[in-house]
Amino acid sequence: MLNIVILAAGLGKRMQSDLPKVLHRIAGQPMLAHVLGNARQLQPERIVVVAGHGAERVQAAFAGQEDIVFALQSPQHGTGHAVQQALPYLVGGDSPEHATLVLYGDVPLVQAETLQRLLQVRGEGLALLTEKVADPAGYGRIVRTEAGDIARIVEHKDASDSELAINEVNTGILAAPTAQLRDWLGRITNDNAQGEYYLTDIVALSVADAVPVRAAQPSSAWETLGVNSRVQQAELERAWQREQARRQLEAGVTLADPERFDMRGELICGRDVFIDVGCVFEGRVELADGVHVGPHCVLRNAVVGAGTRIEAYTHIDDASVAASAVLGPYARLRPGAQIGPEAHVGNFVEIKKSVLGAGSKANHLAYIGDALIGERVNVGAGTITCNYDGVNKHRTIIEDDVFIGSDTQLVAPVTVGKGATLAAGTTLTRDAPAGKLTLSRAQQTTVENWQRPQKKV
Ligand code: UD1
Ligand code: CA
Repeated sequence: MLNIVILAAGLGKRMQSDLPKVLHRIAGQPMLAHVLGNARQLQPERIVVVAGHGAERVQAAFAGQEDIVFALQSPQHGTGHAVQQALPYLVGGDSPEHATLVLYGDVPLVQAETLQRLLQVRGEGLALLTEKVADPAGYGRIVRTEAGDIARIVEHKDASDSELAINEVNTGILAAPTAQLRDWLGRITNDNAQGEYYLTDIVALSVADAVPVRAAQPSSAWETLGVNSRVQQAELERAWQREQARRQLEAGVTLADPERFDMRGELICGRDVFIDVGCVFEGRVELADGVHVGPHCVLRNAVVGAGTRIEAYTHIDDASVAASAVLGPYARLRPGAQIGPEAHVGNFVEIKKSVLGAGSKANHLAYIGDALIGERVNVGAGTITCNYDGVNKHRTIIEDDVFIGSDTQLVAPVTVGKGATLAAGTTLTRDAPAGKLTLSRAQQTTVENWQRPQKKV
């Protein structure tokens, strides 16, 4: 039986923010959501989040996630005191197989694989995730015996000069046998430089009880980076984006510059996908084989078919594009847009809740909303579907092989029959019959003998 306790009660003063620290985001998600995601991969029987500062907001942010139990720590008297607040919620019996893993809400990126290794190393004892660092300042130091066994952890503020020279540090993450953890936490005191109950004091108690203490190390250094300030948040964001970019490259995606890649969700790519600089991917985005994404595009919850080209500055939000289409530059697909195969959507064309059929083209300056457009339709420059009467939305239906001249307004609800042509400048207020030319246009006149006014002197 596995419990996971996530410490998230700290104030996060250096963030200079009204938002509780663990709700600050990395890759578009609250830090605590990352920790929870990684925790869930271990399939624990119980997850306890220890909240304190801003506890209501933290709890509200995860309302409805029923696998989480919240414990309140107020006021905060240290990491040991924090874990004490979680004890009433832990599950499992006295067997040393039953473990409790402690994670930090502000160390968001520790990977499940690393945690799995820590649990393995633990056996039936205590396991610490430790690291050797160039600058150990601020960290708890791992004090070992001459034989190399872990003896205890000493906090920076309590350390002697020789202990300060130790460069193996405590990342804070540990796994303990649950029953012993209860016992040890009942025995720690706050007799130290900070007057706090240190979770790290359980290490010496474990040694005293002859419970083995072992250590594991993270696979990558960025996994254990914590966030205490906006500077550290920005640094961790970049480290994580670099890692996500590396994974895409490994999987065969070409990134014009992995330093200018931002993925805030899930990106699933086929073979030979190209992604230019400055793109942002949000939610779940799927790019099929050979998709080309030009610079500075924003794609959120999008499915894009094979061989489609998305040119610069295109925005796609909750929309789908079939194969071999061409979008942009400067195209905007809003929720419910469905672009058919080989269709073209050009600059300054906005499409919402509409189908643009196979091979149809809207190449310049248009608004298409609540429309069903068939195949091989040409939508001229400046075409507008007037879908909103100020109260209700109405549908426009444009059948196959229609040609819509430039600067046409289609006042919905209205239908344009198959193969119809609408002349430029038409304001269509009634259905246009199939196969015929329909136009609405004021007569053109020329005023003879008209003189342009002269400037008065
Ligand atoms: C802690 C460790 C230290 C380790 C370092 C790694 C202890 C005593 N020290 O030190 O050995 O090197 O982390 O970053 O454990 N928290 C609570 N309630 C509290 C205090 C803290 O929930 O009363 C939470 C914080 O929000 C944070 C985490 O616990 O997520 C660590 O707290 P922090 O104050 O950063 O610990 P350090 O003193 O840096
Ligand atoms: Ca810290």
